[in-house]
Amino acid sequence: MDKVLKRRILLGVTGGIAAYKAAELARLLQKNNVEVQVAMTEAGTKFVTPATFQALTGKPVITNQWDASFANNMAHIELSRGVEAIVIAPATADFMAKVANGLADDLLSTVCIARNCPLLVAPAMNREMWDNPATQRNVATLRTDGIAVLGPAAGDQACGETGMGRMLEPEELLQSILAFLAPKSLAGKKVLITAGPTFEAIDTVRGITNLSSGRMGYALAEAAASLGADVTLVSGPTSLSAPHGAHFVYVTSAAEMFNAVKSHVAGTDLFFGVAAVADYTPVQPSNRKLKKSAEPLDLKLKPTEDILAYVAQIPGGPFCVGFAAESENLAGYAQAKRAKKKIPMIVANLVQHTIGKEENEVTIYDDAGAHTLSRAPKSQIAHGILAHAIRLFEARSPGATVTPIKQAS
Ligand code: C5P
Repeated sequence: MDKVLKRRILLGVTGGIAAYKAAELARLLQKNNVEVQVAMTEAGTKFVTPATFQALTGKPVITNQWDASFANNMAHIELSRGVEAIVIAPATADFMAKVANGLADDLLSTVCIARNCPLLVAPAMNREMWDNPATQRNVATLRTDGIAVLGPAAGDQACGETGMGRMLEPEELLQSILAFLAPKSLAGKKVLITAGPTFEAIDTVRGITNLSSGRMGYALAEAAASLGADVTLVSGPTSLSAPHGAHFVYVTSAAEMFNAVKSHVAGTDLFFGVAAVADYTPVQPSNRKLKKSAEPLDLKLKPTEDILAYVAQIPGGPFCVGFAAESENLAGYAQAKRAKKKIPMIVANLVQHTIGKEENEVTIYDDAGAHTLSRAPKSQIAHGILAHAIRLFEARSPGATVTPIKQAS
């Protein structure tokens, strides 16, 4: 039987209304092969009972620092031994203040100060409490002390106000925690990714663009960052927020995307051209809004630079991965593109399966043939694509070092 490596964390629940979301987080973690031990502050138990967490995790919840079930009666020491991380979700303003200042007056704060593993906190509080200078000082101290602060997000709050201080959703916390626990196989590697559509101006208000959402490229950026890579994401206009852990470069047109790639490509180990770059751009965009007339309008277009083909021909350049979105003849078109752009790997998908969707199914083509990744959320597909690229990258002939290139003018 395959031995699946089980990860273990301690989930600390403090006294905020977002405690009910911690129950869902505990469930999601367990589903993702992470064993969860829950410890709660007394205030936490006023929002969700320990029985809920016990039922979800299959383990008694620890609430009392004098819990005699620990053989040495040292719950505050034992709880952080043998876990890979402590996650406090929700983390109240009061709890963060305690940890920032080394206070240890209950079980969970004592566990935190006695820990020998990383600590992650997911703040949840009213917006005024979050904005309060004391809280901001404490958050800065936590970060300086190497504690990961996940969120918060902005939005509607339980108190009826709207603003910064909502705890991240359980699914978002899950992704951050899994990323934190993931092996860092790309540590020390530089990854450059293009994503999203481009926008080619026709005049001051109109332009040519496409339906790419950017989700696949953003998911790849997050996945690569979670594996420890130094990630730069060059993105065209999307409605997505910048992914965690990546340097973000916002561009509009294909020409801007090309320039951004040229100025960031030096030293890159892996390049992923995910962007749906416009193939043509207006020769002469108008610097005034065009007026309507009864006459047909001729719009003269010129081809754009092929960014991926440019990167692929850099001597000693990065390992390049292309993407092909097709509406038919997936294998034929994808392999033809791979050959034309001289890239070792291309990820092909059908437009109708991917554009604007949360999920995707793809086929990877390389020298060895076709490899299918079946339908899954784009975050999961991103990890599959990365794993394949890393395998090919590592098998690439040794000595293929990346050298800085001369900037084209
Ligand atoms: O547009 P096309 O189907 O040729 O796109 C295939 C691949 O080439 C994609 O990975 C895309 O990001 C990349 N590409 C590019 N620059 C272009 C056009 C496409 O990098 N101008």
